[in-house]
Amino acid sequence: MATKPAEKGFSHKKVERNVTLLGALALLTVAIGGIVEIAPLFWIDNTVEKVEGMRPYTPLELAGRNIYMREGCYTCHSQMIRPFRDEVERYGHYSLAAESMYDHPFQWGSKRTGPDLARVGGRYSDEWHKAHLIDPRSVVPESIMPPYAFLADRDLDTGDMANHLTALYRVGVPYTKADIAKANDDLAAQVDPAAGLDLQKRYPKAQVRDFDGDPDRLTEMDALIAYLQMLGTLVDVEKAAPQERPSETEVAQ
Ligand code: HEC
Repeated sequence: MATKPAEKGFSHKKVERNVTLLGALALLTVAIGGIVEIAPLFWIDNTVEKVEGMRPYTPLELAGRNIYMREGCYTCHSQMIRPFRDEVERYGHYSLAAESMYDHPFQWGSKRTGPDLARVGGRYSDEWHKAHLIDPRSVVPESIMPPYAFLADRDLDTGDMANHLTALYRVGVPYTKADIAKANDDLAAQVDPAAGLDLQKRYPKAQVRDFDGDPDRLTEMDALIAYLQMLGTLVDVEKAAPQERPSETEVAQ
């Protein structure tokens, strides 16, 4: 039997006038919405599509990344290229989720006083980076970036890289037993072309060379430049990106 309009009006009124009933029903509605959004995450294996080429960071890149965080580079630089035309034309292919899957914590950033660095690897020479970090205005006269000259003077405090890798392994970064066992040696191996071969087998596309122009020492500058030169170079994005690109209208939004 169809409900009479008068009755319908009455029940609605009841809900609106009874705060407890309104609260309980609102909670129920929101809870259903929440479950629909959250529950699937417990059943799907991975929310990040894996792409070829992505590998864990080498110990030296990781040490450089730690310096990047220590110095607060992320307060001025983002590492996430959004799929908008202006960004893609300026910085290169938009970032893929998998490209930051081994980042703990991620470095997407929310402020761009300086440019995005997600694909800065290979864009400049090591000498340029060194000169820029020592005195940004020596290479970019109008730059407002602070100088980090001390990085070239400070020996890299290697700490215990094996523990660092183990901690990352525990949160899902697939370091192997060999990677962990050789972690401390790998730091030095990456700046020594004679020793870097084994490292490159375990870490494809690892760049092995002296980065800071001071082959006798392993400095914080070596680590930071090794990290910067790797950014965005691991994945062949043209091959890895889903075939369906955002259409022109989507990009413009
Ligand atoms: C106060 C903000 C600020 C901080 C902090 C900062 N930068 Fe910058 N950075 C800039 C600005 C502005 C530019 C653009 C001008 C220039 O190239 O110097 C820039 C440019 C760069 C570039 C060149 C990027 C390109 O595509 O041309 C790199 C690489 C870079 N910064 C790395 C770093 C690193 C590494 C750190 C931390 C050690 C850092 N920055 C900290 C503001 C900052």
